[in-house]
Amino acid sequence: MTVIATDVTDSEDRLAARLTEAKKSPDRGIDNYFYRSHLVYQRELNQLVFRSWVYAAHISEIPNPGDYQLISIGEDSIIISRDAQGDIHAMHNICRHRGSRVCEEQAGNRKTFVCPYHGWVYNIDGGLKSARESHVMNDFNAQEHGLKKVRLAVFMGLIFINCDPDAAEFLGPLENIRQPLGAYQLENAKVAHKQTYRISANWKLVLENYLECYHCATSHRAYARAHTLRDLDQKVAHVVSAMLERTEEVTGIEGLGTAYEKVYLDAEGFGTCVYTSRYGLFDGYWTGSKDGKPLAPLMGDIKGYDGGVGDFQMGPLSFMLNYPDHCIMYRFLPETLTSTNMELTWYVNGDAIEGQDYDKDELIWLWHQTSLEDEYIITRNSEGVNSRFFEPGPFHPEFEASISQFNRWYLDTLQNSIPSQE
Ligand code: FES
Ligand SMILES: [Fe+2]
Repeated sequence: MTVIATDVTDSEDRLAARLTEAKKSPDRGIDNYFYRSHLVYQRELNQLVFRSWVYAAHISEIPNPGDYQLISIGEDSIIISRDAQGDIHAMHNICRHRGSRVCEEQAGNRKTFVCPYHGWVYNIDGGLKSARESHVMNDFNAQEHGLKKVRLAVFMGLIFINCDPDAAEFLGPLENIRQPLGAYQLENAKVAHKQTYRISANWKLVLENYLECYHCATSHRAYARAHTLRDLDQKVAHVVSAMLERTEEVTGIEGLGTAYEKVYLDAEGFGTCVYTSRYGLFDGYWTGSKDGKPLAPLMGDIKGYDGGVGDFQMGPLSFMLNYPDHCIMYRFLPETLTSTNMELTWYVNGDAIEGQDYDKDELIWLWHQTSLEDEYIITRNSEGVNSRFFEPGPFHPEFEASISQFNRWYLDTLQNSIPSQE
């Protein structure tokens, strides 16, 4: 692994100047200052990441009272749990006494979280149950010392969190994709596999890679054999329109081919991006498998293979790829300035049995392979971008339009966080 030195001379003034400069050329990549500065990274966490809706987990991963999972974002840890009434909670894994983590195991089942430091005990919903010898503490009110809550939204079995108490509401925007997403009945799906790829690159490089398919033809041979997204729209328009013509009849789902887009600066509220479209597979391919043949029982209400794939975005950092027989969630979260956790979750229909209805290795083959290929190119990209000799080139107007959209949101948000100099 190449270690990237990120020690740059930094100040808010320098950031302001770089932002002004970067905004002048929205159709090019941004200066490498934005990938190297610790000041920028902290500001991104404050202004973008912790204000955005982020996919946390699937309801089936915490099915019983007392079940919980931890999620790491940057240096932070968040607990997602289910209480005795079946309600789901999200809270910061930070003791309200002097700040220790109260839970270390990544997942499990508990009645309480006991802080390892001085033994304060929290209920599974985060409320403070007891604080040792607190009867002699003046005016101590246990009710005021529960674990700090994180905002939560559950949509079709998908749990989303937002660390900003004043975040814009997310369920409203998500309603716009209810029809196409509902077909997969994700609330009844099961997690077939989950894997985190820790990529040695700044989170924006990892996200930018996901936002464009210019690299698909060159970097993802297996993917490019099957998916029309590798080509310019006009070149594959006949494949996509033939697919959309048969979608409703073959799948039995009204509105499965619906397209909707309100992302980044166009989102209804900050950090509430919602997108969907259905794109095509080349002839002979029915799903994301090695040979194009089905991998698992059809999901939810879907009655047949139309040769299409549902493409979804939910929040700025979470995306889904939905084949008729399995779905994949992609989530990008920064770990440090120079490392990113890219998590993939594969879902199949709730009653599908591994080894009988699907082979897990076959199921995950394409996107595991594709993720390793991405890791390879992203880390090479990071090495070049971090060079003092790097100069950003132009975006491709069609293939890389989404990066340009992301950058506009990114630059605007950082700029808005700097008090005006006038
Ligand atoms: S830090 Fe948790 S009990 Fe003191
Ligand atoms: Fe890729």
